[in-house]
Amino acid sequence: MADGSGTQNEQAVFPVPSSIAEHAHVDNERYLEMYKASIADPEAFWGEAGKRLDWSKPYTKVKDVSFDQSDLHIRWYEDGELNVSYNCIDRHLETRGEQAAIIWEGDDPNQSKTVTYHQLHEHVCRFANVLKKLGVKKGDRVTIYMPMIIEASYAMLACARIGAVHSIVFGGFSPEALAGRVNDCDSEYIITADEGVRGGKNVPLKKNVDEALKHAFGVKKVLVVENTGTQVAMKGGRDVWWHEAAAGVDEFCDPEPMNAEDPLFILYTSGSTGKPKGVLHTSGGYLVWASMTHEYVFDYKDGEVYWCTADVGWVTGHSYIVYGPLANGATTLMFEGVPSYPDASRFWQVVDKHNVNIFYTAPTAIRALMREGEAPVKKTSRKSLRVLGSVGEPINPEAWLWYYNVVGEGRCPIVDTWWQTETGGIMITPLPGATDLKPGSASKPFFGINPILVDADGKELEGAVDGNLCITDSWPGQMRTVFGDHERFFQTYFSTYPGRYFTGDGARRDEDGYFWITGRVDDVINVSGHRMGTAEVESALVAHDSVSEAAVVGYPHDIKGQGIYAYVTLISGVEPSDEIKKELINWVRSEIGPIASPDLLQFAPGLPKTRSGKIMRRILRKIAENDYGSLGDTSTLAEPEVVDELIENRQNR
Ligand code: WT7
Repeated sequence: MADGSGTQNEQAVFPVPSSIAEHAHVDNERYLEMYKASIADPEAFWGEAGKRLDWSKPYTKVKDVSFDQSDLHIRWYEDGELNVSYNCIDRHLETRGEQAAIIWEGDDPNQSKTVTYHQLHEHVCRFANVLKKLGVKKGDRVTIYMPMIIEASYAMLACARIGAVHSIVFGGFSPEALAGRVNDCDSEYIITADEGVRGGKNVPLKKNVDEALKHAFGVKKVLVVENTGTQVAMKGGRDVWWHEAAAGVDEFCDPEPMNAEDPLFILYTSGSTGKPKGVLHTSGGYLVWASMTHEYVFDYKDGEVYWCTADVGWVTGHSYIVYGPLANGATTLMFEGVPSYPDASRFWQVVDKHNVNIFYTAPTAIRALMREGEAPVKKTSRKSLRVLGSVGEPINPEAWLWYYNVVGEGRCPIVDTWWQTETGGIMITPLPGATDLKPGSASKPFFGINPILVDADGKELEGAVDGNLCITDSWPGQMRTVFGDHERFFQTYFSTYPGRYFTGDGARRDEDGYFWITGRVDDVINVSGHRMGTAEVESALVAHDSVSEAAVVGYPHDIKGQGIYAYVTLISGVEPSDEIKKELINWVRSEIGPIASPDLLQFAPGLPKTRSGKIMRRILRKIAENDYGSLGDTSTLAEPEVVDELIENRQNR
């Protein structure tokens, strides 16, 4: 995969199409004006922007923030009260009760359904009443471990309605990973389904929950939605079928008034060290951010059909399948399947079937489809498409151009949106009617965001330059803490460059002030747009009886963006073999989940270390990248000869 730096493609600029600019929410002039205002007077700007929501008690304070260690706090609209589910449903009932709120498209192309705002209200109220019946109270954590069935969105909104804090665990995570997340936030309730279905294959969710609960003792109730109808074990007193609990529950449930700073959800994400962190988002500021970015970044107009292909298990699904679009009264499409099933034309068939206007996906999907050629795209119409989006990792210019020319037929702007689980919503992005596009660049900051580049010492760099990406001040969608570990929140994001939020990403700013995200500068790798901590994969490997030491790095992968490369030292007495290699790869898969399974695994009799015993990852990365010509200084190694051995047996030839 080309990194694109300095290529022809990177020089190309695609001006805003006049057909888009004429009708867009903002053109470039307006963008600059609003951006300037948002930076000059955040209180005034966000005070006004907060009015896009309905507050049961209006706020009088807008912003109260400190990034200092002694007093780290982030508060927005702190004396306001609102309910997120009310804002996503009830307030639309009068004007758009009969409009489609969610279009659900099944894994099986013959299955789809449409739920109006009115119906959504009833479903969510009933779901909320079931949760209450189980004993769920305001502030309780509820773990959601579900497939992409429409009930997943009901479950989220039902939690929001009664003030419970959801923690969604992606359905692809293992029982061990699920148990860790359930325990970390002391969740007493789990919502799951008998099974999920993806790409024609069944995923045994309930069975995984049963397995997880061997290591999670605080769980009182497991609510199970019947999906495939397969037989599952139900433990008396603990496990409850949704349809049984729902029989006879009321179809009305009053939304619980919540403080703006009451938690809405926790979402676990990997970092460079330790176990995954519970990123905590609160109610008011988060929803302002999700809804405002959804409207402006996708130039969403009333009546349009909007489709984000993410899973609700990731933050993209939270902000841009459920909360942002529904807060805006949009029609949002929720897809259970995968891009390649039944065949590589599926995305575009769904676009035609439901007349999708705005389509938001990940570069890894584009690259995988690009490989299948143009025919699967060309046999569909795609005339309804107006705006395309990309998220999760840098999109290489080749994939960008294919997306633009083949999928969008040169007619649809691509918004390459940079953001993170921690940011709650989109931070750096083009706006369809305002920003001339450069393939591979996330381009310009959204309102209120002041991105800066700093060197290793924290010195701010000016002009066209490469550096570490920081954000100077807070924005309403910012995470508020790491659940249960405020000190870790400080250490992770605010200690490297005091007074600033450090993103963990590197970036370049060009002469036009466009940002080009270059990728993580920490020990985090990005596999198919999903974040994986190398330390997590390493600790899974060393938990295996045969492993004495492991080091994991990323390497360029044609489809996934980055692949996982593991170096493993076996304990003495265990000999390297294809069998043990397979066993270790499966082991990681079962410890964390398929997304964490190493693509390449090399047995290493020794790992390169400094004399003080620190593994030299820079060297391991170079070998994994097959770039051993530029290993740099190896003189500080305790045993320089291990490097030759590793190069000799490298896997990425
Ligand atoms: C990391 C955040 C944001 C939802 C999906 C991932 C990378 C994300 C882009 C982009 C370049 C990107 C960054 C970031 N990333 N979007 N448009 N261009 N890089 O959320 O799991 O929290 O990962 O994804 O490295 O730090 P996440």
